[in-house]
Amino acid sequence: MADRRKFLKSTIFSGLAVSTASLSSISCAPQKAPTKPIVISTWNHGMEANAAAWEVLSKKGRALDAVEKGVMVTEADPDNATVGIGGFPDRDGNVTLDACIMDENDNCGSVAFLQNFMHPVSVARKVMEETPHVMLVGEGARRFAVDQGFKEENLLTEKSEAAWKKWLENQDYSPVINIENHDTIGMVALDEDGNLSGACTTSGAAWKMHGRVGDSPIIGAGLFVDNEIGAATATGLGEFVIKICGSHMIVELMRQGYSPQEACEQAVNRIVKKYPNNYKNLQVGFLALNKQGEYGAYAIHQGFNFAVRSNDENELIDAGHYNG
Ligand code: GLY
Repeated sequence: MADRRKFLKSTIFSGLAVSTASLSSISCAPQKAPTKPIVISTWNHGMEANAAAWEVLSKKGRALDAVEKGVMVTEADPDNATVGIGGFPDRDGNVTLDACIMDENDNCGSVAFLQNFMHPVSVARKVMEETPHVMLVGEGARRFAVDQGFKEENLLTEKSEAAWKKWLENQDYSPVINIENHDTIGMVALDEDGNLSGACTTSGAAWKMHGRVGDSPIIGAGLFVDNEIGAATATGLGEFVIKICGSHMIVELMRQGYSPQEACEQAVNRIVKKYPNNYKNLQVGFLALNKQGEYGAYAIHQGFNFAVRSNDENELIDAGHYNG
């Protein structure tokens, strides 16, 4: 109930923000003071990740540094089967990683199909800062990471190797909602200076085809930040996030006046409407944060949760969902 109230509050405040924005040129109506700093991120693992991000944000640090530090915690957790070390491999037994990062100046960097590096998000940040490109993949990304001083290491743990060998016995490829389909840490933050940034990192869908890349490293799909408006990130079966360019869509809806909650709902509804024969068997969840520090989240199915950290909140919240 509390969550429902929170979302209602968020929606009402956003509605006010829209109407005051449209009136501001004639009436100079006061705007709601932004809630900042604040960080939100996907799933249970978001709590620990947010704690690391908060270390940066609470000392008036930059949102970009906060989101990188935050998701690195999840990348380094060998017990997490969907991100970084310990991530379930592809059907050939290779752990392949996708990640991206985006700052308040539209700078962005991304790596895809990267193997044997503990922190793909940091390699993505180097792509953003040290190259004229946005995205490096595969062998090129590996060479670049080595040149930048990142160490190669085996990310297939005993546990993830055992899970893969078990999967080989049946080779069923229909991801289980919120389990094999439950991937990715996406994190977006607003810092004390009022700047937004985001990061997204994953080992992708378990037992995927070798070479498969999901939404997480794709700017506009797994993550999008527009410092004028807001930021959004995604989790779940990336193919369906890519098809609607989900995170970009949410930021554009916020630009049109939708609250973060309403924008996430619209994106989920788009998937449901366009893919009526698919949505029942796949999970997608979205998170969004606007320039005022208001946030929202929504998923196709029950089970998606997200973590929030601000001066007022440090909690895990069940997101609303479309189905069931
Ligand atoms: N959302 C992560 C993936 O589909 O790879």
